[in-house]
Amino acid sequence: MELKLLSQSVIKISKTAGAFIRQQYFLFNEKNVEVKSLNSLVSFVDITAEKMIVEELKNIFPDAGFLTEEKTVEESKAEWLWIIDPLDGTTNFIHGIPTFAVSIGLMHKGKMKLGVVYEIMRDECFSAYKGSQSQLNGKPIYVSERKTLVDSLIATGFPYEKFDFIPPYLKTLSYLMQHTRGIRRIGSAAVDLAYTACGRFDGFFEYNLNPWDVAAGAFIVQQAGGQLSCFSGSDNFIFGREIMAGNRLINRELLQVIQQNNSTSTNAIGTNS
Ligand code: IPD
Ligand code: CA
Ligand code: CA
Repeated sequence: MELKLLSQSVIKISKTAGAFIRQQYFLFNEKNVEVKSLNSLVSFVDITAEKMIVEELKNIFPDAGFLTEEKTVEESKAEWLWIIDPLDGTTNFIHGIPTFAVSIGLMHKGKMKLGVVYEIMRDECFSAYKGSQSQLNGKPIYVSERKTLVDSLIATGFPYEKFDFIPPYLKTLSYLMQHTRGIRRIGSAAVDLAYTACGRFDGFFEYNLNPWDVAAGAFIVQQAGGQLSCFSGSDNFIFGREIMAGNRLINRELLQVIQQNNSTSTNAIGTNS
């Protein structure tokens, strides 16, 4: 199927899953929460939404495999791969904070071809396919044009599980507090990336994310004219568990700050098990 048509179908599927999640948001009871690992929460809402998405994607593209957060379908090594987070921002969802999204990406032989991030409570659908400009609810979007960190609003996610990341992270945070307009931690990496794609945020960085958190959003940033990398500058940001995104100039400045703080930290990134 042509990517444009596929993208339209994925938008519909995201919105259907989003409608289910929105309905459950108003009914949700803390008793439904399960703890997967430290500070990693899940409920039947994440799992049901994932099953809905997987079934519908199987119908429209039977040859593609899956890499999903909730593992409701066996992980695949197929050439075409759906990378799915049915509910990015589960902690927000559980605590009644209305910022969370459906995130669906499609990869072919390691290269992203399509991405949809649907921010449910704002009914904002961010999308892109290879060859297209990224869109928000059907209108083209672009990364910000701000040239320096001093004029920028930067998004991040706090380490909540791998705590040896904290010392270099705090140094970077301290620098950014003093040299930007502000920092936001809104609790959904997919939304952070989508907002970077449309210029609301000038940059975003986070340690320890999974491919399903970033695949769709990162592609939408790229197709909106943005740049992404790992903290080493490498382009393994989907599987590399560290990501930074923004326009070219902000990314360059942010990369320098992060690298400087990581190299001077007594506790280098990724040294724990
Ligand atoms: C989380 C969100 C959050 C990020 C976490 C992710 P989840 O995803 O993207 O912003 O800081 O690292 O795990 O668990 O809500 O799908
Ligand atoms: Ca996630
Ligand atoms: Ca999730």
